[in-house]
Amino acid sequence: MPAPPQESLFAVCIPGLEPFVFRELEDLGLIRQAEPNTPGPPPSGRSGSIERGGILFSGTLEDLYTANLMLRCASRVLIRMPAFHAAAFSELRRKAGRLPWERFLSKGHAVALRVTCRRSRLYHSTAVAQRVAAAIQDRLGFCLFQRKWDEEAAQDGLQLILVRLVHDVCTISVDASGALLHRRGYRQATAKAPLRETLACAMLSASQWDKAAPLVDPFCGSGTLPIEAALWSRGIAPGAFRRFSFMNWPVFEPDRFKKLQGSFKAEPPASPPLILASDRDRGAIRMARENAQRCHMAAFIHFSARPFSAIQPPPGPGWMVSNPPFGVRIGRRETLSNLYGRLGGVLKEKCPGWRVTLLVSNPHRLTETGLSFDKKLRVRHGGRWVQIACGRV
Ligand SMILES: C[S@@+](CC[C@H](N)C(=O)[O-])C[C@H]1O[C@@H](n2cnc3c(N)ncnc32)[C@H](O)[C@@H]1O
Repeated sequence: MPAPPQESLFAVCIPGLEPFVFRELEDLGLIRQAEPNTPGPPPSGRSGSIERGGILFSGTLEDLYTANLMLRCASRVLIRMPAFHAAAFSELRRKAGRLPWERFLSKGHAVALRVTCRRSRLYHSTAVAQRVAAAIQDRLGFCLFQRKWDEEAAQDGLQLILVRLVHDVCTISVDASGALLHRRGYRQATAKAPLRETLACAMLSASQWDKAAPLVDPFCGSGTLPIEAALWSRGIAPGAFRRFSFMNWPVFEPDRFKKLQGSFKAEPPASPPLILASDRDRGAIRMARENAQRCHMAAFIHFSARPFSAIQPPPGPGWMVSNPPFGVRIGRRETLSNLYGRLGGVLKEKCPGWRVTLLVSNPHRLTETGLSFDKKLRVRHGGRWVQIACGRV
């Protein structure tokens, strides 16, 4: 049987999360790990390259299904079609019309085009979108509905197409995910300032939590960190509770996908970790519990409403991974220094020897804890740069 064709795939992520997605792709076997101590890129075949905002790699349609189903830190996965030169509308329409649209679109499909133009002769994004839509219809021979893309309300069945013109080179990508991948499907209730599930997973990954030792989040809000930790420790696919755009494509093979889902069946861990999640806000705890119920994780997380100073961590080494208030959207700025200072004190008293990973918007907050942090990573969150900081109590 001939080998299935390789597609050019791009796993998009929040800026700063590229190394985490790269690692995940390696762990899933979708890109080959570089030999230790070997300089340069990994051997040919399954190589991947880090670009700003994502990882470019090649793979089959089945690899694309796996990436959508299993990546915990990526925001979406795209198929990148071959780039072409386009400096005039006629050239754009002719060349875009040669792309294999029939693989992704069928009669009745609605499309949304998102266009960016930089340093190109074609700079009017609305006009570019019109020509690409016309090119798709030239190729398919029927009309398509066009709608506006709304990230917050990505409707099922709406196919997002991304068009980028840079220096007169046009790259068109077809989105395979639909709603952003952090929308796992279980979090319908959110407390104040929720964390994206993808960023929560990056924090867990940065913390090097072993998925067996106790994990505590004393500022759990709607429960994102403890729920993602519970799902991860049980090997449950982050995409197990949702649909993807590729399921509407004419080339989608449902049986192959079902088989693939079966191959990732979760195994309950031999010694399930103790996960403690608390917040002083009772309403947040109620929401967190409901969210955990929706993905069947409520039985594996101990939720309680209490201030962080009243946490009761188990003895022995463990991990605290948490997202305390930034003071931008919640809390009062003047009390924040106090809160971080007290947090350091509580950790020293109740969690000696524990590892701690915090998400902070202002590095000064780390100093206020009086703890030392040896690893700091910058990532985008809520339109600003923040830090994932890891240390030991
Ligand atoms: C940035 S939010 C956490 C968001 C959470 N990671 C999520 O995804 O929903 C900070 C949380 O800290 C809680 N909080 C503020 N002060 C607290 C305190 N003294 N003790 C415990 N929780 C507190 C707030 O109620 C809020 O839910």
